Amino acid sequence: MIPVNEPSIGREELARVTACVKSNWISSQGKFLKELEDEFARYCGVRFGISTTNGTAALHLALAALSIGPGDEVLVPTFTMAATAFAVCYCGARPVFIDAEPETFSLDVNRVADYLRRQEKKGTLRVKAVIPVHLYGHPMDLDPLLELARRYSLAVVEDAAEAHGAEYKGKKCGGLGDLGCFSFYANKIITTGEGGMVVTDNPRLADRARSLKDLAHDPGKRFRHIELGFNYRMTNLQAAVGIAQLKKIDRHIQQKRWMAGEYTRRLESLPGLTLPQEKSWAKNVYWMYGLLVEPEFGLTRDQLMAYLKEKGVDTRSFFIPMHLQPVFTQGRYKAKRNGPFPVAEEIAQKGLYLPSGLTLTESQIQYVCRQMKKASLAGRGQIEAELSRR
Ligand SMILES: Cc1ncc(COP(=O)(O)O)c(C=O)c1O
Repeated sequence: MIPVNEPSIGREELARVTACVKSNWISSQGKFLKELEDEFARYCGVRFGISTTNGTAALHLALAALSIGPGDEVLVPTFTMAATAFAVCYCGARPVFIDAEPETFSLDVNRVADYLRRQEKKGTLRVKAVIPVHLYGHPMDLDPLLELARRYSLAVVEDAAEAHGAEYKGKKCGGLGDLGCFSFYANKIITTGEGGMVVTDNPRLADRARSLKDLAHDPGKRFRHIELGFNYRMTNLQAAVGIAQLKKIDRHIQQKRWMAGEYTRRLESLPGLTLPQEKSWAKNVYWMYGLLVEPEFGLTRDQLMAYLKEKGVDTRSFFIPMHLQPVFTQGRYKAKRNGPFPVAEEIAQKGLYLPSGLTLTESQIQYVCRQMKKASLAGRGQIEAELSRR
């Protein structure tokens, strides 16, 4: 089976982990953590990095550092991974879902503006923050959103879990809002096994995030706690892996961009596929090669996934939008009605991603594309046969 994703781990990671074990600093203090935090923040173009246990914790920590809490609303794309919305609920605040825009799949800024205007008019504006998500490696068009955030005094927390190194107008994603959040899960552009990072250029938010992630000890008196903190500490062992990975990040991104070019070159002549794009203002890092399967392809998305599985090609369907998730349609976390969400529902139904791992070879890409062509021919053949029988 050609896996949908695979990390690239080698001698450099092993050497640093070995050095870490030999140093005896294996927990959440040690030189690798500081190095990873400083270097990753610098990579994102900001001053402060706060490592965490994972990307979900990074999102929670960022919102907690902003003092988001009960009574507050946070605007979240409905088309995202659940962690984006869950982090809002961990703070006791309410996520308000916003539909996607059809080209980059990110937040539809017009829908954000509509919601803010409506709430302002009714005198019920409770939105404190917005979380743009840079999906599948393509940045969101941030300027219009940053402008709205300024106008309505909203904090901007970028969810860049899937977009390490992606650029918006020449600047790195994650370093453009008040805080940026990353995941270093094994399938990400760089990994620490599990892990995450909050980055920011704001010293006050950085200090607060650093305190909250380590149980919020009173700086003047250890084991005295004025507020509720968490244990979201990354280990030095993970950071050792992360530093080795960070040194290779440009190579990883180059590999992803090469992979995308190879797929696009081979698939663009097939009918009924909407392939990923790169906007003129963007650098797409193609975390995943995600595409939409249109009716002209001949098979539905699910039929295509089943066909490819049979041929030894693993794929994943796109996220199920948050407004359709049972956790948000009933019970304690029932979301506020803010539909309809036609774009998110359509892309969720048509979208899948192809094998996109860092170890993917040209011959594997060739094989996947050949199977895609066969699938389309088989599907269209069947449709034509059926039409001629009618
Ligand atoms: C958009 C997005 N946000 C947040 C996360 C959460 O990261 P983690 O799995 O490290 O908790 C992910 C993880 O895949 C993600 O894709």
